[in-house]
Amino acid sequence: MTRKRVAVLISGRGSNMAALIEAARAPDYPAEIVLVVSNRPDAVGLARARDAGIATLIVDHTPFGNDREAFERALDAAIAPHRIDLICLAGFMRLLTPWFVARWSGRLINIHPALLPQFKGLHTHRRALEAGVKRHGATVHFVVAETDSGPIIVQDSVPVVAGDTEQTLAKRVLEVEHRIYPQALRLVAEGRATLPK
Ligand code: GRF
Repeated sequence: MTRKRVAVLISGRGSNMAALIEAARAPDYPAEIVLVVSNRPDAVGLARARDAGIATLIVDHTPFGNDREAFERALDAAIAPHRIDLICLAGFMRLLTPWFVARWSGRLINIHPALLPQFKGLHTHRRALEAGVKRHGATVHFVVAETDSGPIIVQDSVPVVAGDTEQTLAKRVLEVEHRIYPQALRLVAEGRATLPK
């Protein structure tokens, strides 16, 4: 088995990244996490990745100002030496341009803390509570040009319960995230989930 070489892109805490690293420890897992990249130098997840013995890179977006594509070209160049097959976005808080999305088409996946197509965008837990939904969850999907809109790879839900706050709901959903992201990466790495042309 040739394991797919995966880069995880983060901006913060990196708990989904950690779940992927943990899953990829299994000898039969079809992917290895070879690189973690953060656009924020202070991302807590960077230390977690280093502790796990994984190479890390910082590609700070701030020097590029509003030029998103210039940032992405720098990011793309920085990861090139690592011969990356697949990219997992895990709390990576940058909108991507059509250039980057096309370049990595079918090899770029994201986790979103909601049952897509519900609650695209930010503050999903608050919006789920405001909407009064009975179930909420998380989705791993292929990234396409339109934000939070690509084909779904894995999705799972949890109940919303009386007295839930954004924090209690986020915690319950995060457990789902940590379970489904490794499942979804496995499907993509094995070629069992593909982005339709
Ligand atoms: C997760 O809820 C993820 O779905 C969202 O941002 C959060 C990142 O958390 N996009 P972490 O950095 O993986 O802990």
